[in-house]
Amino acid sequence: MRRRLAQAVQDFGVPTLSHLQERILRDPALFARLFQYLTVQVSEMFRDPSYFRAIREQVVPILHTYPSIKVWVAGCSSGEELWSLVVLFAEEGIADRTVFYVTDINAEALRFAENGIYPLERMALFSQNYLAAGGKRSLSDYYHAAYGAAKFSQTLKSRVVFADHSLATDSVFLEAHLVSCRNVLIYFDRAL
Ligand SMILES: C[S@@+](CC[C@H](N)C(=O)[O-])C[C@H]1O[C@@H](n2cnc3c(N)ncnc32)[C@H](O)[C@@H]1O
Repeated sequence: MRRRLAQAVQDFGVPTLSHLQERILRDPALFARLFQYLTVQVSEMFRDPSYFRAIREQVVPILHTYPSIKVWVAGCSSGEELWSLVVLFAEEGIADRTVFYVTDINAEALRFAENGIYPLERMALFSQNYLAAGGKRSLSDYYHAAYGAAKFSQTLKSRVVFADHSLATDSVFLEAHLVSCRNVLIYFDRAL
């Protein structure tokens, strides 16, 4: 935390941490920028393929029994986990009856998630994970590649709601059939 704050002090061009605090209290936009320093954004599509395979094989059959489904992706970062679930749900024929609620405290990451655009060079790993997770087609069926980037289909996005929400300080977000909250609680202490 100290190292990250020291970096922010340097990048924001203020002499001390107290000066940074003073500026942040006055400027909400700066507070949002500070999240880039205070949160870890590492993510990957179909990260830990066995998790997504378990969702496909053990959870989807249960979800099939509901006429409408709500999924909450809590702490979505730049959206890789969301897009993995959206693709999986489309493939399993339940995307049409699902609404995905996607939250994070980092507004910048949420914007990224909403755009659904990733560097093309990351797609080799994502595709490998997708197949290991039981993917039935080719991941490239779901995105459009151009100018060195892959953009996920906008049709897939029509059932996604993005919202700024803190698991630590905001109240209960919604009742959902499935909550996917991965690699977030590891940053919390016991009280949180
Ligand atoms: C390492 S990423 C995990 C991304 C994704 N869930 C995955 O597993 O690939 C951790 C995310 O948790 C978010 N986060 C940290 N504290 C949070 C909080 N109190 N409420 C909501 N999101 C939080 C961070 O902004 C970051 O985007």
